[in-house]
Amino acid sequence: MAGAEIIGREELAEIQELFSREKVNLYRYGGGNYKTREFEEKFAAWMGVKYAHAVSSGTAAIHCALAGAGIGPGDEVITTAWTFIAPVEAMCALGAIPVPVEIDETYHLDPAEIEKAITPATKAVVAIPMWAPPKMEEIAAICKKHGLILIEDAAQALGASYKGQKLGTIGSVGSFSFDAGKTMHTGEGGMMVTNDKEIYERAAEFSDHGHMHIPGLPRGKDPRRAKGLNLRISEVTSAIGIAQLAKIDMILSKAKENKQRIKDGIRHLENITFRPFSDEAGSQGDTLIFKVRNREAALQFEAHLLEHGFGTKILPEAIEWHYAGIWSHLLGEIDRYRDADLEKLWPKTGQMLRSSICLNIPVLMDDATIEKLIKAIISASEKIG
Ligand SMILES: Cc1ncc(COP(=O)(O)O)c(C=O)c1O
Repeated sequence: MAGAEIIGREELAEIQELFSREKVNLYRYGGGNYKTREFEEKFAAWMGVKYAHAVSSGTAAIHCALAGAGIGPGDEVITTAWTFIAPVEAMCALGAIPVPVEIDETYHLDPAEIEKAITPATKAVVAIPMWAPPKMEEIAAICKKHGLILIEDAAQALGASYKGQKLGTIGSVGSFSFDAGKTMHTGEGGMMVTNDKEIYERAAEFSDHGHMHIPGLPRGKDPRRAKGLNLRISEVTSAIGIAQLAKIDMILSKAKENKQRIKDGIRHLENITFRPFSDEAGSQGDTLIFKVRNREAALQFEAHLLEHGFGTKILPEAIEWHYAGIWSHLLGEIDRYRDADLEKLWPKTGQMLRSSICLNIPVLMDDATIEKLIKAIISASEKIG
């Protein structure tokens, strides 16, 4: 939940400031307000990149990132079989061919599987950090060796890093989401970041029907060089984003502290296995993943936690939205997947996800709640034997 837990006065003050101006304009390309510009500048500075472009959602952000990087019809894009469906939807919307590959022990796309999936049509790799870094060094080296564009959909991993470098800034372009489950929350919203001027400009154009935003030209006379959509953010959303961004360091450190306490309280349990990390220091605090014996044990574990007042996050209950092996409604439109049994394409990923538990770690957790959660996990572990 993170940012959504602590929405309040500061966000309202930013909105009030917007409405207190002589001429209220809620449109990002309208004159005189520019909350969006301020949000983008502050976000770019926090990320340590040259360009940030705010849009209407995380789905829009990865859509723009892909379009900005020049991904188009027929391009093969290698990604992970464990992700929320949005980036794969964006690839399909651009006419590209998603090529999900099996995850490794860190629950991220396996570098060895990337190598196997490369063909002459491969144009990019989309790394999707699930609250922790994939093996970015190896993935970046593969991309470099084969001339592929590295894109990071870091919707779930704002504030996570790999060997000190923030995720989203390692590849050519990165994207983030500000929906209700993410580190920062703005109702809906997303951000794309890059150091590449050409990618930035093309992505910004894509988010606004292709408008090239030539300074000095009236909007109606603005030229275009490629098609686009309306994926614009509103000034109200950006105002909320400015206030949320001011809280981000606190959100990240508090969740990390809470997660450490929970891990310390359950690390003696022999029938659960924490997922290993490519760089644990760079992982985020708001999610804890561990594996149990099998699917039955995971379902039993989940039911026990629910009885004690704690829900799980994505695994095992929302696997349908996060595993490529199930998306025949989307992948079935593509020739190579049309008659395939998708589950058989990524069996290791399906097996790992089905026997895993993923927990949300709130920012606002008092000592009593942390103790209660630790006890619930311990008793669940005793139950599954
Ligand atoms: C990897 C990934 N990309 C994109 C999105 C979509 O973000 P939004 O809900 O803001 O559209 C999500 C949402 O969970 C996600 O996990």
